[in-house]
Amino acid sequence: MQTAYTKEELRSTLAPLRGRRLVLVPTMGALHEGHASLLRQARELAGEEGSVVASVFLNPVQFDNAGDLATYPKTPAQDLELCDACGVDVVFMPSPDTMYCNDRSISMEETHLSTVLCGASRPGHFAGVCLVVCKLFNLVQPTDAVFGKKDYQQLAILRRMVRDLDIPIQIHGAEIVRGADGLALSSRNVRLTPEHRAAAPSIRRLLLAAGESYAAGLPAGDICASVKRELELIPGVRCDYVELVDAETLHESTNPHRLALLAVAAWFGDVRLIDNIELSRS
Ligand code: PAF
Repeated sequence: MQTAYTKEELRSTLAPLRGRRLVLVPTMGALHEGHASLLRQARELAGEEGSVVASVFLNPVQFDNAGDLATYPKTPAQDLELCDACGVDVVFMPSPDTMYCNDRSISMEETHLSTVLCGASRPGHFAGVCLVVCKLFNLVQPTDAVFGKKDYQQLAILRRMVRDLDIPIQIHGAEIVRGADGLALSSRNVRLTPEHRAAAPSIRRLLLAAGESYAAGLPAGDICASVKRELELIPGVRCDYVELVDAETLHESTNPHRLALLAVAAWFGDVRLIDNIELSRS
């Protein structure tokens, strides 16, 4: 496995790998089993002939909360080990100065999918995600890229970005990886208090129960209200949103025959957790 820290190093490392499948997995580091599954999926897509590139970059531009950025876990040595164990060929680990010029003045705006769910409460977040992913796409020029479905809205927005900007990269969504108790793996889980860590798997339990209510035909409003009520019974928990939307448009689901998405964001103390479940009535 090779590691590139600058754009020049990345360019020269990737030069001999071009012309075959090149699969990119963008990450912000603090890698866990969830990332490992993205990397393994990338390895499978690349096959023996192709290559896998992982980027590890804590992108300051997508943080709407300085405290969240400051406390985001950083584990570069373990990240490199995990990438190696998952068969990654090249890790790109740039510094913020390498990625961004001080006087940068171009931004990326998605104006529909990012107005709801996390976008409504995290102003500028998805603009920052689109900016960094677009830059990574330009630097790596992969044939494919893999993103997790835990960040369902991010995945939908990035699919829209490559569609609307004619970026010739195939985007793949990877299933959510959970602990044995059902909690979706997240780099932020390590910051939960023991009480909140023990309570957090109830998100998954409530989503599964909501899925049954949806299949039984209960109205979306009632389903969301019930999930919110149950979550907020946990001391120190406050819901940012619980919403049932169309899985593609991320806006109100008007056609019951289309795939729906029940998405949750909740503060467990000062840690914001997100999770979701795809739902269908047929
Ligand atoms: O999902 C993430 O970890 C980040 O948003 C991403 C896609 C790596 C961009 O910084």
